[in-house]
Amino acid sequence: MNDEKGYLDDLLRFLSSSPTAAHAVAKVSDSLLAAGFRRVDEREAWDLVPGDGFFVTRSASSLIAGRLGTGREEKHGFRIVGAHTDSPGLRVKPQPQRRGEGLTRLGVEVYGSPILATWFDRDLSAAGYLVVREDDRYIRILFDLGGPLCRIATPALHIHREMNTKGFKINPEKHLPPILGGPEAGYEDLVEMAADRAGVDGSRVVLAHAELYDPQPATVGGLDGSLLLGGRIDNLAMCHAAVKALEASESATSSQIICLFDSEEVGSRTLNGADSTFLQTVLERIAGSRESLLRSLSSSLLVSADGAHAVHPAYADKHDPQSRPVLNGGPVIKINAKQRYISSASTTAYFKDCVERAGFSCQYFVSRNDLRCGTTIGPLTASRLGVPGVDAGNPMISMHSIREMAGTSDHGAMIGALREHLGSGATIEP
Ligand code: CO
Repeated sequence: MNDEKGYLDDLLRFLSSSPTAAHAVAKVSDSLLAAGFRRVDEREAWDLVPGDGFFVTRSASSLIAGRLGTGREEKHGFRIVGAHTDSPGLRVKPQPQRRGEGLTRLGVEVYGSPILATWFDRDLSAAGYLVVREDDRYIRILFDLGGPLCRIATPALHIHREMNTKGFKINPEKHLPPILGGPEAGYEDLVEMAADRAGVDGSRVVLAHAELYDPQPATVGGLDGSLLLGGRIDNLAMCHAAVKALEASESATSSQIICLFDSEEVGSRTLNGADSTFLQTVLERIAGSRESLLRSLSSSLLVSADGAHAVHPAYADKHDPQSRPVLNGGPVIKINAKQRYISSASTTAYFKDCVERAGFSCQYFVSRNDLRCGTTIGPLTASRLGVPGVDAGNPMISMHSIREMAGTSDHGAMIGALREHLGSGATIEP
């Protein structure tokens, strides 16, 4: 699958079949197994040798994969790509059932910062995992119900006269619970359906974790086919690019690592987020000793890959006058003086060369001083490890909408650039 079209079709399938971070990690695991990577477990001893491909997951929703470098010396370091698996959305509360007015609704909790208005009047589905007890073990079994199961309904204009002129104000507790059906519809039926679909005996299910999502598949659109349309492009598109870049790379002197973390949208301080021990402990195990790890880290480089803001034509004045990334204009390098992004002049020069060696050109993003700048897993990962890096990502519009938009030609460009990075023997003066 070296052609751009093949990558794009694969990305569309990945986006559509990954309604939650855990589903994305399961899909990535399947892909890596098919590409010859070996699954290892944090509880076991690892006997990896130079050139070996491996991957490890933590809490089902984060994954680190890599290929050990053939260079025996620590001076070759790690070439790392980081991205995040989670997307903002709505999660079903425990004991969610709310009955009244002839309908059943489900209580939900907001995860991260979704654009809430985009969740209204869409035919929503649910996916997640069932916790099943097997003797003394609690295991997770993924489910994805698909199809239109519930709906967060807008009020009619006659109830909310000023909706178009004064804005659609949302009280998340009051307005978000989706309608699941009539008075007989129950949450337990949803869990039963999940068990049924997953082929699990319903009596073995202890609890369920369910998230809402939009089952409309990701697609290519626009008259000229230049638009990538779908949910969770932030940041599953960069997870996909990292995986494809790793799979397509030859083994090199440096160890190649991709880390796909959950929890970015809620601050990363979780068991398996970027602010956890996950990456550091994996790197320590493959380095062999503490001394070797520390020496390797000092010659390592990180690319933090996350969606970037393309200029929206109706809001062009919200961008810096010179730095206005456009869709299909190539990967974006993100720069911020307050270090919300980790890019320095040196690491920017390095990644610009990676993009150009892949045959593309890059764009730059810098915030206006009078607008708040976002951030990524870059600063956490780089500062925890002491590794220089660059923040980059493909340009997109409607970030955090239930259905986002990016450019179709940028995806192959990012895969090419990340491949250059993973195979690079370049160093940055410490
Ligand atoms: Co993101």
